[in-house]
Amino acid sequence: MAPATPHRPLACVILAAGKGTRMKSDLPKVLHRVAGRPMVGHVLAAVTALDPDHVVVVVGPGMDSVAAAVAPYPVAVQHEQRGTADAVRAAFGLLEGFTGDVVVLYGDTPLVTPDTLRAMVQARRQAADPAVVVLGMRPDDPGAYGRLILNARGGLEKIVEYLDASEEERAVTLCNAGLMAFDGARMFDLIGSVGNDNAKSEYYLTDVVQIARRAGMACSVVEAAPAEVVGVNSRAELSEVERLMQRRLRKAAMDNGATLIDPDSTFFSVDTRLGRDVVVGPGCVFGAGVTVGDGVEIKPYCHLEGVRIDRGAVIGPFARLRPGAEIGPDVHIGNFVEVKNAVIEAGAKANHLTYIGDARVGPKANIGAGTITCNYDGFGKHRTDIGAGAFIGSNTALVAPVTVGDGAIVGAGSVVTTAVEADALAVARGNQKAYAGWARNFRERKQKEKAKKA
Ligand code: UD1
Ligand code: MG
Repeated sequence: MAPATPHRPLACVILAAGKGTRMKSDLPKVLHRVAGRPMVGHVLAAVTALDPDHVVVVVGPGMDSVAAAVAPYPVAVQHEQRGTADAVRAAFGLLEGFTGDVVVLYGDTPLVTPDTLRAMVQARRQAADPAVVVLGMRPDDPGAYGRLILNARGGLEKIVEYLDASEEERAVTLCNAGLMAFDGARMFDLIGSVGNDNAKSEYYLTDVVQIARRAGMACSVVEAAPAEVVGVNSRAELSEVERLMQRRLRKAAMDNGATLIDPDSTFFSVDTRLGRDVVVGPGCVFGAGVTVGDGVEIKPYCHLEGVRIDRGAVIGPFARLRPGAEIGPDVHIGNFVEVKNAVIEAGAKANHLTYIGDARVGPKANIGAGTITCNYDGFGKHRTDIGAGAFIGSNTALVAPVTVGDGAIVGAGSVVTTAVEADALAVARGNQKAYAGWARNFRERKQKEKAKKA
C-alpha cells in the first residue's frame, strides 16, 4: 500500500474590508449580488471546494451584514483601511500558530474557480518551496493593475503598484490579479515587515515578494484567464462580472443537456438546476431556488423563483412562478398565469390569465381562464383546495378559505364562497334573463328618432 500523503493544512483569508466607495451604495460592496448570490458568497463557494481547515473573512468596522452573510465562517475586523497587507494582518489573531498554506483572496473578485485556487496551492507546494505564489493575468488593458516583474530564471522578483511603477515597468503586460498563496510558516514575518513608504502610504500586500526575495526565498507566478479575476469596483464592473457569470452558467446548463434557444437572453441564478432535455425559450429569468425536472419546456418570457417543476411540465409563455410553487409532472401553466405557494398536482392545467396562490390543485384539474384564488382579505392569507379532476369555469373567483371537491364543476363567472362538494355543480352568478325582440325594437326606435331630427 502506498504511504498516505500527510495532510497539509490550508487556510483561506478573504479580504472584504473595502468600503466600495465607487459603488455609491448603502450596501457593503461584497454583498452586491452576481447571479443572485452576494459576491463574497461566490468566493466562499470557490474556497470551500478546497475543503480548507480555516476560513477567515476580513471586514471593516460595522459590517455586521457581511459577518451574517458569511456565517458560520468567522470574521476579523480591520479597524482602519490601511492597505491589503494590513488587512491580512487583521486575520493573524485567528490564524495564530498556523503553519500550513494560506491563500489570500479578495471578496470583490467572485469569478475565481476552485481549479485556479488548487493550481496556486500546488505551485506553493512544489520542490522550490516558494514563500509566495502570486496569481497573474494578462488583461487586454493592463490599466492600473500592479505589474509582476520576473527575473531571468522566470521566477517572480517583485510586484510594483501602478502608481509607483517606472515607464519600463508599466510596459509589462503580466499583471497582479491580487490572489496569493503563502507558506504559513513564513507569512507572518513577511507580512509583518511590510512598510507603507509608497505613493498611497498604504501597507501593500504586494511588497511581500520583494521582502521574500531579499531574504533569499523563491516566489512564483500562476497565470489565470483575465475573465476569472475581474474585480468589481463600480456598477459597470458589476454588470461585466454578471455577464461573464451568466455566460458560464448558460454554458454549464447546455453542457448538462438543456436546450437554450437564445442563451444571451436567458438569466440564471447560481443555484438553478435544470434536468435533461429541458428546453428554455428566449427571455426567461430564473431567480433563486429553481429546480426543473427532465423534459420540461419553458416557453419564452417566463419569470421563475423558488419553484420546483417536475418532469414533462409545460410552462409559459409569459408565466410567473413565485416562491413555494410546486408544479407536478405534466402540468400545463400557460400565458399570464401566476402561481405562488401552491402545489399543482400531476396533469393539472391552468392555461390562461389566472392567479393561484396559497392553494392545492388536484391532479388533472382544469382551471379556466381568468380564475382567481382570492387568498388575501387585507389581514391574512387563506387557502384554496381544488380536488382531483375538478373543472373551474372561466372568470371564477374562489374566495378563500374554500374547497372544491374532486370531480366538481364550477360554472363560469362564479364567485365561490362556500365549499363545493365532490361531483357537484356550483353556479354562483346572476341569473340570465332574455327579452325576445328587445334589441330589434330598440334599434327601430332609435332610427325613427334620428329621422325626425333630420
Ligand atoms: C490590488 C493590488 C494590485 C492588483 C489589484 C488587482 C495591492 C497593494 N495591490 O490593488 O497589485 O493589481 O489589487 O485587483 O494589493 N482591502 C481591505 N483592506 C484594505 C485595503 C483593501 O480589506 O485596507 C480589500 C478590498 O476590500 C479589496 C482588496 O482588499 O477586496 C483589494 O483592495 P483594492 O484597494 O481594490 O486594491 P487595488 O488598488 O485594486
Ligand atoms: Mg481593486
